[in-house]
Amino acid sequence: MKKEKFLVTSALPYANGPIHLGHLSGAYLPADIFVRYKRLTGADILYVCGSDEHGVPITITADKENIKPKEVIDRFHNINKDAFDKFGMSFDIYSRTSIPLHHETAQLFFKKFHENGLLNEKKTMQFYDEKAKMFLPDRYVEGTCPNCGNEEARSDECENCGALYDPSELKNPKSKISGESPVLKETSHWYFPLGNYQQRLQEYVDLMNKEHNWKENVLQYCRSWFNDGLKDRAVTRDLDWGVKVPVDNADGKVIYVWFEAVLGYISATKELSLKLNRPDLWKEYWQNEDTRYIAFIGKDNVVFHTIIFPAILMAWNDNNDDKFILPENVPANEFLNFEGKKFSKSRGWGIDVIDFLKIFPPDPLRYTLAANLPENKDTDFYWKEFQGRNNNELADILGNFINRTFTFAKKHFELSVPERGMLAGIDEEMLNMIHDTPLKVGGLIDNYKIKEAVLEMMNLARAGNKYFNDSEPWKTIKDNKDKSSTTINICLQTIYTLAEIFNPILPFTTEKIFKMLNAEKTDWHFCGRDNLIAGHKLNEPEILFTKIEDEAIGNQVNKLGVFEMEEVIEEKIPLISYEDFSKVQLKSAQIIHAEKIKKSNKLLKLQVDLGNEKRQVVAGIAKSYSPEELIGKRIVMVANLQPAILFGEESQGMILAVENSEGSLNILETSDKVKPGTQIK
Ligand code: MF3
Ligand code: ZN
Repeated sequence: MKKEKFLVTSALPYANGPIHLGHLSGAYLPADIFVRYKRLTGADILYVCGSDEHGVPITITADKENIKPKEVIDRFHNINKDAFDKFGMSFDIYSRTSIPLHHETAQLFFKKFHENGLLNEKKTMQFYDEKAKMFLPDRYVEGTCPNCGNEEARSDECENCGALYDPSELKNPKSKISGESPVLKETSHWYFPLGNYQQRLQEYVDLMNKEHNWKENVLQYCRSWFNDGLKDRAVTRDLDWGVKVPVDNADGKVIYVWFEAVLGYISATKELSLKLNRPDLWKEYWQNEDTRYIAFIGKDNVVFHTIIFPAILMAWNDNNDDKFILPENVPANEFLNFEGKKFSKSRGWGIDVIDFLKIFPPDPLRYTLAANLPENKDTDFYWKEFQGRNNNELADILGNFINRTFTFAKKHFELSVPERGMLAGIDEEMLNMIHDTPLKVGGLIDNYKIKEAVLEMMNLARAGNKYFNDSEPWKTIKDNKDKSSTTINICLQTIYTLAEIFNPILPFTTEKIFKMLNAEKTDWHFCGRDNLIAGHKLNEPEILFTKIEDEAIGNQVNKLGVFEMEEVIEEKIPLISYEDFSKVQLKSAQIIHAEKIKKSNKLLKLQVDLGNEKRQVVAGIAKSYSPEELIGKRIVMVANLQPAILFGEESQGMILAVENSEGSLNILETSDKVKPGTQIK
């Protein structure tokens, strides 16, 4: 059988900051799982990615930090490459768009398009910052929307009302660089006639969807772009950071970042070919009708991968003999949020991958993210869920099943695979499940339903535990050794299957399991059969998962942005029933005496009148009140609190107070009309 050929790409992340968990869930982890699975099926696959190192996001970061763009990209390219590596991303190459090979590739496309008369040069008026002496890219200009009056509108589009307008219509424009009002100055740019490709693009999307069942969210983005009608798009910018426009009289102009970044996928594959000493290897993928190309991205990148990039490739293919393939699918994910809110560096909300991996190992993170991918809607990462998935699923289900099987095999079968005897119904069932699960899981991953696939994987481990329990090998070992050895044989086959199917999700842990099994990965199609023969020697078991303590999770929650922290705690306070509430007896009381407590600078000893009884209460309010000023106050107290002894003084209740932001206390007071002893409801 001919090997299936795949080309897989993940969006090239901007090298202007560290990647966080949200990035992983969008475009990286799903692709890596897909690729690792395909490799196990024996497919011939290339997986390429790299840093996107041009464009305004990079120059904005450089401006902010007062350094050169080059410093920004070098720093973050290395940080992100390292983070991906530690997370277990199995790119065949992680390239970067600043390499000369990429500049040449992008310029070649531009030059050809230019020579073929595809690009139209047009004069436009563009905002110019006279103080900074530069044309201002869209994102550097802010002003008032001519349509809705939003004061933070972009230069040519309003995020509030969705209006698109000419920059000359923007009211009160301000340069984000100097803060001055920019002037409109004439400049010229080259435009790619995207509109000319609309019909073919629509046909392309329809056909791919029909054959490969595109995701509904992706189709919706495409439809809305098609409905609006595709327009010419400027493919150059007045900037000095980027790929220089390779034609005469284009000083100070670079190719628009999106136009060249998507070509970065091709450059990266070329770089890989050179590294492997097979300079033409890239053509076997990019220019081969038999290759299936899948582009993994997050939802904000859809238009660039379903419209702009295919149009660029169509334009090339129309005019050249070497023809590129187009993406067969663009399975874009929605976003992952963090504890209920968007990731935000400036508010300290979220966590970077590299920081995460300093504290916890990669596999539990991969598992948690995979089980919760934003495949159809936004999802959230919660620290508590991470802990739960690690402790209750990885450790208690998967780890436990493997561990108890190995422990048993060690104790009773000299750490080797025991013979299989007569099969009972329960054994047959388990064998069927090992046979069926890889097929099910594979089918789901083939359709980018990774979340569901993960569920099926863990279900096999669950079934393994149940099978072990129901078979009771610890009993049968005594009076029916044959049965006991059958059970352990089947448990070991199950573990072998688990190691294989979990490999794309848990690459590090499954390596350990294969080692324990003293076996290699097999072809996915055979992994559900009886691969371990009786008598096969096993290796000593290792610890696969460590439980995560509450404290470790609490520490992380404490690091979140301070304001958000308070909100989270509020959100997390559990609801109580009316019955719970009614147990608390609140009463009004009047303070009749107050004095300091020796040796304590915080506590006061109060005598209070509760109507038909007097009580003594010790309250921690000495820093906020002098004893004198308390006398006569009518307050609220919890009347049925268990008495306690504080500094040798008995306290028979608690008075209510609020703490303000500086830490001083205000006791809650009732009015003179409320008689002491009145119950508060
Ligand atoms: N750098 C872009 C982002 O982070 C993605 C670029 S994808 C590419 O959103 F195809 F253009 F490279
Ligand atoms: Zn508006």
